[in-house]
Amino acid sequence: MPALNFDDRVVIVTGAGNGLGRSHALAFAARGARVVVNDLGGSATGEGRDASAADRVVAEIIATGGEAVANHDSVTDGGRIVECALDNFGRVDVLVNNAGILRDKAFHNMTDEDWDLVYNVHVRGAYSVSHAAWPYLREQEYGRLIFTASAAGIYGNFGQANYSMAKLGLHGLAQTLAIEGAKRNIVANTIAPIAGSRMTATIMPPQIVEQLKPAFVTPLVLKLCHESQRDGGGLYEVGAGWMGKLRWERSKGHGFPVSAPLTPEDVVAQWERITDFTDADHPASGQAALMSMIGNLQNR
Ligand code: NAI
Repeated sequence: MPALNFDDRVVIVTGAGNGLGRSHALAFAARGARVVVNDLGGSATGEGRDASAADRVVAEIIATGGEAVANHDSVTDGGRIVECALDNFGRVDVLVNNAGILRDKAFHNMTDEDWDLVYNVHVRGAYSVSHAAWPYLREQEYGRLIFTASAAGIYGNFGQANYSMAKLGLHGLAQTLAIEGAKRNIVANTIAPIAGSRMTATIMPPQIVEQLKPAFVTPLVLKLCHESQRDGGGLYEVGAGWMGKLRWERSKGHGFPVSAPLTPEDVVAQWERITDFTDADHPASGQAALMSMIGNLQNR
């Protein structure tokens, strides 16, 4: 198995001052990439800023003979982060959208500010950096992007309405970028990680936080960002030394005759079939999903 290396690649990792982002940045640099270590350096709930978070990681990389530069802008200023890559290294090849915050509250206690801030950092931020990088990736016909989702987005989680919305939204964004980028060798994928970090330290016992090393997540990120990676639009759960891929599953469903009016009682009568996952389908595209529905128009 040849080693996956990133020589001559320029990699932006957002939120790389701590936790998962730091782990990704160190690993890319150790394998030859020139890395933009972005981090605003705020608290886990998005207050304040502190340049030392990114600076420390850059110092670590340089101390081990790697190449990196710090950037302290918010991901909502994506243009400045991409400019930093271009000014220092002349290009951008890989973007790992990782920066994140939490504003956990039960929905009835959630404020507009909690909602907007989580949306801004995760969704608007990932959009902003990706959108700024996109023309360069298209022009050079090469790009690898990662979006960082969460189990909270896939399954829902009490107290995380804002975060769940943002995290699954990123998978939606990545799926479409994978489609739009395919012709130009731009590959976008999403991970839903679990790792001990200052973010999870508030909700997990210390011995679990200690065991769930970000280093169990990073190798998947590097694999998905390597030039050999061709599949995009995937969603991977990863952590604790385990990783797997998710996909959509749709029941075989039930097609009603289109020649007669359809009533709610008809729906009730077929509810078991509508919700039965025996021999379920796994539509791999919007078109595949639509075609089987449209086919029912022949059901007279
Ligand atoms: P962390 O809090 O250790 O690191 C996040 C970093 O993002 C921090 O250094 C923070 O300063 C930075 N950041 C926050 N807002 C920023 C902004 N506007 N611009 C630039 N940087 C900003 O958290 P962790 O655990 O490493 O999380 C990394 C990503 O993984 C996040 O997107 C998080 O939502 C996601 N995630 C983490 C999980 C875990 O188990 N640790 C679970 C699921 C998702």
